[in-house]
Amino acid sequence: MALLEVVTFPDDRLRRKCRPLTTVDDKIRTLASDMLETMYDDEGIGLAAPQVGLDIRLVVIDIPAEDGTQKHNPLVLINPEIIAREGEVASTEGCLSVPEYTAEVKRAEKVTVKALDQNGVEQTYNADGLFAICLQHEIDHLDGKLFIDYLSTLKRNMLRKRYSKLKKEQQRAAAAR
Ligand code: NI
Repeated sequence: MALLEVVTFPDDRLRRKCRPLTTVDDKIRTLASDMLETMYDDEGIGLAAPQVGLDIRLVVIDIPAEDGTQKHNPLVLINPEIIAREGEVASTEGCLSVPEYTAEVKRAEKVTVKALDQNGVEQTYNADGLFAICLQHEIDHLDGKLFIDYLSTLKRNMLRKRYSKLKKEQQRAAAAR
């Protein structure tokens, strides 16, 4: 197991349309484990392959139980597809690739998602609540889309400036070390 580097906005790697996986093998299972470990380390509930710099349709999710009793419930989704949506909700979201920022966006209230699991077996998930939101957010990542894309252009440009400046400062600090 290894921690992976999380790519942050406005990195171009977050903007690619990812390709479907044709085989599910040990390499993919190891990658999924590393992504889960990285996600837990950053206290996230979902992570998509482009967030670790890869253009493949792979997502990991772990939604905590509402009563706080459940241990980890990791899910690996390969080539996930939303096959049905219902209703609309406002959700306050954040993203490990857009650190320390949250915003309210509109999502479908319920979704049905089809995906392969880590054994290459097709699964169907009927999701609502946080699970439904998380699925939509992560599957967006596979199409190069971020939750901040649902905000106004003005807000997004402000964020782009803020994060570009932050990155330059970090690079400068690293160079000076
Ligand atoms: Ni995200």
